[in-house]
Amino acid sequence: MSIQPVDAVLLGAGMRGFCTFGGYAKSFPNNLRFVGVAEPDPVRRKRFVEEHSIPAQNAFSSWEELLERPQTAEILINATMDLDHFPSTMKALDAGYHILLEKPMATDACSCVQLMRKVEETGKIVQLCHSLRYNPFFVRLKKILESPDVGDVVSIMHNENIAYWHYAHSFVRGNWSNEERSSPGLLSKSCHDIDILYWLAQKLPARVSSFGSQMHFTSDNAGEDIPQRCTDGCPIESSCPYSAIRMYLGDNIDWPINTISSDLSYEGRLQALREGPYGRCVYRCDNTIVDHQITTFEYDDGMTTGFNMHGHSHDNVRTLRISCSQATIRGFLEKRELEVNYYDDGRQEIIHTGGPDDLHGGGDTLMIHDFIDLVRRGRPDQVIASAKQSCESHLIVFAAERSRKTNRMFHIPTFIKQVNQDLEKSEKK
Ligand SMILES: NC(=O)c1ccc[n+]([C@@H]2O[C@H](COP(=O)([O-])OP(=O)(O)OC[C@H]3O[C@@H](n4cnc5c(N)ncnc54)[C@H](O)[C@@H]3O)[C@@H](O)[C@H]2O)c1
Repeated sequence: MSIQPVDAVLLGAGMRGFCTFGGYAKSFPNNLRFVGVAEPDPVRRKRFVEEHSIPAQNAFSSWEELLERPQTAEILINATMDLDHFPSTMKALDAGYHILLEKPMATDACSCVQLMRKVEETGKIVQLCHSLRYNPFFVRLKKILESPDVGDVVSIMHNENIAYWHYAHSFVRGNWSNEERSSPGLLSKSCHDIDILYWLAQKLPARVSSFGSQMHFTSDNAGEDIPQRCTDGCPIESSCPYSAIRMYLGDNIDWPINTISSDLSYEGRLQALREGPYGRCVYRCDNTIVDHQITTFEYDDGMTTGFNMHGHSHDNVRTLRISCSQATIRGFLEKRELEVNYYDDGRQEIIHTGGPDDLHGGGDTLMIHDFIDLVRRGRPDQVIASAKQSCESHLIVFAAERSRKTNRMFHIPTFIKQVNQDLEKSEKK
């Protein structure tokens, strides 16, 4: 007997929508079939409609329009931009969909709690795209930490090193550069990392303090003779590491170059640099997001964790060092390698964690497999990256961000209580 795919509608046929979720449906046609899409960009909409043979009457130009119609599939995948996640997911829950929701679940603390409550009320299966929780590297690391052989976890230091070109593309010129149009950097880039620390620690931190700023990508670092765009005859263009001409007009048209225009010909890309956000000088953008941030947590039992995020790296790598009472563990996510050094006999174990070959070290594929399996089995209680868990890790992010902005240490349970009280007050109005 052949297995029937689960039918889905997609909100937002951009990079994640088309490549990650659309790509999954093409690779696993017995698991997932798209029967509807909402996407305002006509080129992107047409591309998705053609790729997945979607009937014309099921192609919409916005999530608002799609969700005005009766439910047309069992699941909805929400790959819109950050600010749309909350209103569209609330509406989709009312419409009756199970939902795979891109992070962040919402861009402010009260909305996260509101969404989490709505998920519990409706009993729908809602899974956040915290792909690190499904990544074999972190799954294995969690097993190691749960084993008595390494003893108690005393301290975790986690680094997210973002390559300078990636940072400039996404967080200076692009989609996530301005907090008002997306969300704070610790949420948009690093909610995965705060979530994975929460998942590994299996407890809420008691206290947080966070420091960080926009230090490098500011107009103070542009000389007076530097024009608005790299294409405006900039005198240092040929030696600038952030030259948009070097970055976007070469032979490579893979990610992230393919995000700047639907027309990837040389002329199409040049036009995008002359007119769109990606041709702007990195020192003359409207970016408001930090370019480095250090956050530290202390737990009630004395354990400490730290997270360092910055956009000044030669490569994109996440590394961890975990100090336990009986072993030291070092992790290199991109190499998919864990190293465990035991104190009792000096033994060193090197573990290659493997996994499917996707952009997120296998995490995306396994995350979508899991979501579909839960929908088939009707198990909202077994979601690993559930709305409740994700809401808690998002609230940790908001507490850290508040600490950074107010230059104060925050007691996390008190912060969460305050968010709930604020929500109740606003609901009474
Ligand atoms: N889980 C992960 O690891 C991961 C990685 C990258 C991005 N993301 C998240 O995924 C989301 C999408 O990111 P992306 O890189 O695909 O961005 P994108 O800009 O490429 O895609 C978003 C799409 O939503 C469309 N859109 C805008 N308004 C809409 C509306 N009213 N109705 C329907 N669609 C609408 C846009 O036209 C665009 O095509 C973001 O929230 C981002 O934070 C998650």
